[in-house]
Amino acid sequence: MADPVALITGAARRLGAETARTLHGRGMRVIIHCRHSRDEADRLADELNAVRPESACVMQADLDKPDQVRILANMAIQQWRRLDLLVNNASSFYPTPIGNNSDEDWTRLINSNLRAPWILTEALAPTLAKHNGSIINIVDVYAEKPLAQHTLYCVAKAGLAMLTRSSARELGPDVRVNGVAPGPILWPEQGQDNQSDILQATALKRCGNPTDIAGMVAFLALDAPYVTGQIVAVDGGRSLGFQGG
Ligand SMILES: NC(=O)c1ccc[n+]([C@@H]2O[C@H](COP(=O)([O-])OP(=O)(O)OC[C@H]3O[C@@H](n4cnc5c(N)ncnc54)[C@H](OP(=O)(O)O)[C@@H]3O)[C@@H](O)[C@H]2O)c1
Repeated sequence: MADPVALITGAARRLGAETARTLHGRGMRVIIHCRHSRDEADRLADELNAVRPESACVMQADLDKPDQVRILANMAIQQWRRLDLLVNNASSFYPTPIGNNSDEDWTRLINSNLRAPWILTEALAPTLAKHNGSIINIVDVYAEKPLAQHTLYCVAKAGLAMLTRSSARELGPDVRVNGVAPGPILWPEQGQDNQSDILQATALKRCGNPTDIAGMVAFLALDAPYVTGQIVAVDGGRSLGFQGG
């Protein structure tokens, strides 16, 4: 039987790249989606194809643009003519203090974090259903408890959490839909205030590792056939107290 196929958005670097490596290590073929990080995505595909030929490919699309998201969905279906897993990982993240935002901020934060996952869910569900596939949405602990001055990001992730639960209800029994809500894993590249406050408010007092997220994605996708509609916090206990940050 042909190896199962996963599409991971935003997979050229950081958590997405680790997720692609882990799923590939579990025997999946991977479609590595990227926007600007084409070189890193190509290098990752080369690394994985050196392990198993024709087991990884790269697709580029700007998820802010719904037409490009639909093209990505079609290309993903055509690539190996099957799809078993969609991981909605790509995300824009930056502060949007109230009173200082444009329509473009709404588009960037809502489209990458919520609208693109919705379009991909609709477009790919029939193909995922053919092999009892699943969808995993990468949410955030801030979907439940807001991060100061990040209203649009938190709204988008809260929407993604409901998309997870609502689509799990609607797409069963053929497709499972779950979420992973990371706490502090890798700090944003543009910097993060209050890093020590955030860690102090985290029960395990440290950042997690990208492998913690990738491992939970693999578990939900491959080892949890009776789990759907759940959002698992992988956050070192960050969501328990939530003072600071
Ligand atoms: N890092 C953490 O500690 C943490 C904590 C909580 C939640 N999360 C969630 O975990 C996921 C991965 O986190 P991360 O820190 O690895 O993410 P990231 O580095 O901030 O972003 C991942 C990728 O998303 C892609 N992306 C952003 N906007 C896009 C757009 N409009 N179209 C296409 N691609 C777009 C970028 O791809 P290109 O580089 O190719 O442009 C980027 O490399 C995200 O959903 C994030 O919200 C992470």
